[in-house]
Amino acid sequence: MRGLFQSLRGRKRVRELLPREAIASIGQPFVDVLCSMYDGDLQVGFDGNTYEIDAVTPLGPPQGMLIYQLVRELKPENSLEIGLAFGFSTMYFLAAIHANGSGHHVAVDPFQYEWWHGIGVAREKVVGIERGLFEFVQETLSWRLRDLLESSGNSVSFSLTVTIHSTESSLISR
Ligand SMILES: C[S@@+](CC[C@H](N)C(=O)[O-])C[C@H]1O[C@@H](n2cnc3c(N)ncnc32)[C@H](O)[C@@H]1O
Repeated sequence: MRGLFQSLRGRKRVRELLPREAIASIGQPFVDVLCSMYDGDLQVGFDGNTYEIDAVTPLGPPQGMLIYQLVRELKPENSLEIGLAFGFSTMYFLAAIHANGSGHHVAVDPFQYEWWHGIGVAREKVVGIERGLFEFVQETLSWRLRDLLESSGNSVSFSLTVTIHSTESSLISR
């Protein structure tokens, strides 16, 4: 892990780069789709219609590349993401899992359809990721969810919580 942070520190600072240059190493089709999202193009939702995405929610390339590098380095069998919104972070997870050639990613968000038009979930189809690598659960983070994931054999080896800072979620995502 220390090696990973050292190699990131030694690189040209990602935030100084344009998104396309900063994320080029994650490969296609992930680069083109993410650039279109960063450019603010209309994006396809779960119902097939296109929707505007806002400029506030997105996870930036520096944070996204950190997710990508961590998943590439740790090669978790199962990863869990709490809150995917438009799916910026999801894209970095999927790109890394695709490059690793193994892994299974679960994204949890109770408001994915109500607030985000299912744009995050639709990323799976947009990038054409292999079936079975990605799973969406329309749930709030809870003990019940943890039990559900564990009982289905998905013990989580890497998780990212982008939203919730309650005591309960901290305990669950440890
Ligand atoms: C800041 S956005 C996430 C941004 C996203 N990860 C990205 O990279 O663009 C926060 C997300 O958390 C979700 N959320 C809010 N409360 C939640 C809860 N109790 N459990 C799971 N997700 C929740 C919201 O619907 C929203 O999608």
